[in-house]
Amino acid sequence: EILVSPDPEQTAARAAEAVLAGLDRSSRRPSVLGLATGSSPLGLYRELGRAVAAGRADFSTTHGVALDEYVGLPPGHPEGYRQVLLREVCDVVGLAPDRLEVPDGSSTDGAALEAAAAAYEQRIRDLGGVDVQVLGIGANGHLGFNEPGSALTSRTRVKRLSARTRRDNARFFRGLDDVPTHCLTQGLGTILGARRLVLVATGDAKADAVAAALEGPLTASVPASVLQWHADTVVCLDEAAAAGL
Ligand code: GLP
Repeated sequence: EILVSPDPEQTAARAAEAVLAGLDRSSRRPSVLGLATGSSPLGLYRELGRAVAAGRADFSTTHGVALDEYVGLPPGHPEGYRQVLLREVCDVVGLAPDRLEVPDGSSTDGAALEAAAAAYEQRIRDLGGVDVQVLGIGANGHLGFNEPGSALTSRTRVKRLSARTRRDNARFFRGLDDVPTHCLTQGLGTILGARRLVLVATGDAKADAVAAALEGPLTASVPASVLQWHADTVVCLDEAAAAGL
């Protein structure tokens, strides 16, 4: 389902409705909400916060499951995705910090990171899978940190960040040199395991990636094209991001 709204605010509101409907449908309590970082879902998280304030939603028993995490940032680093999600989701919607799951990227040792990736997959299984996964899209079509070339059936693993993604994310750090080179990310196969996917994209910088993902071939060169494979995907766009469709 592709929903095009006139502006980012209405895009966020429709995405929030899609998330709440997906969680309501889940027969499992507590429900499991997959969380993306980046600027795209911020408006959606604020809308969910408003729904809580209005008594239409309650995330106090919901588990949050992050898509990805940088490798090698010290625990508590403000740009580490655990801290980002604590600020942008837990504080905003009332999700309990001890119910927030983030891959453990604190080590730089390969074997420890592989173990952290396997433990993360197990944790998602133990929770019964993800009910609704919130997604943004990278300007190069990445999902989570699954860069172009990622296997379509991949699971959580260590990845090297592309030069473009490091440049795109340098704005959150003092400079490019401070941006980590590696990450842990849910794989495309992991993401496809969620019962519903809700992708938010706004602005003309995303128009090419959105068009390639939704109307191009299903290909590892455009990781977000795996959305075409999922039976319950809701894509929420503003007119600028939808311009290439
Ligand atoms: C990062 C995140 C992705 C996100 C992407 C787009 O690389 N790992 O999950 O979708 O950025 O970010 P933004 O929404 O800020 O454009």
